[in-house]
Amino acid sequence: MPLRLAVLASGTGSNLQAILDSLHGKGLVEVVAVASDKPGARALDRATDAGVAAEVFPRDGFADRQARDVAIAEWLDAQGVELIVLAGYMQLLSPAFLERFRNRVINVHPALLPSFPGLDAIGQAYRHGVRLSGVTVHFVDAGVDTGPIILQEAIELAYTRPIEEFEAEVHRVEHRLLPKAIELIARGAVSIDDQNPRLVRIEE
Ligand code: GRF
Repeated sequence: MPLRLAVLASGTGSNLQAILDSLHGKGLVEVVAVASDKPGARALDRATDAGVAAEVFPRDGFADRQARDVAIAEWLDAQGVELIVLAGYMQLLSPAFLERFRNRVINVHPALLPSFPGLDAIGQAYRHGVRLSGVTVHFVDAGVDTGPIILQEAIELAYTRPIEEFEAEVHRVEHRLLPKAIELIARGAVSIDDQNPRLVRIEE
């Protein structure tokens, strides 16, 4: 049975597209739901084009963040979702949501965590002058980009190149690394260490 995947996205959804193109419907993974906080997000059109259920949960449609997250969680459960991927989802998820889907929510971040968490990670790294940055895929915990790391890939930075080129390279790596992490999880190759819950074990 394929792993039933949901993607939460606020923006263009290029990572969603990479998942759809490389994994969806090929036996191991089925994208069954795409949710967004942003009406009109391009990610929703990409889902619809691929025949995947898409739903908007706008912030102002609910009394508060908790109420919105309960509605998202119920919708995801109704689709039988087993793994949730945050791909450019610009909202923090409530602790109750993360508890309900414990160790079943992952995120892609455009820097080598724990460096440059939060917003504009690409710009932060570029302006800081680091020689290496990259991409991290990690489990989501209650902090901002603090959860256990699943995969990382480094990219060398040359400041003679414009930031747009660096940005494009980061996205190219994301589009490879995020599907790779999902595939490993779908194969049952990823587990969290019993002794140290920060450590992710991967059997390749
Ligand atoms: C990606 O850079 C991701 O790392 C960050 O938000 C961006 C989303 O891009 N969290 P897209 O919507 O997948 O094109």
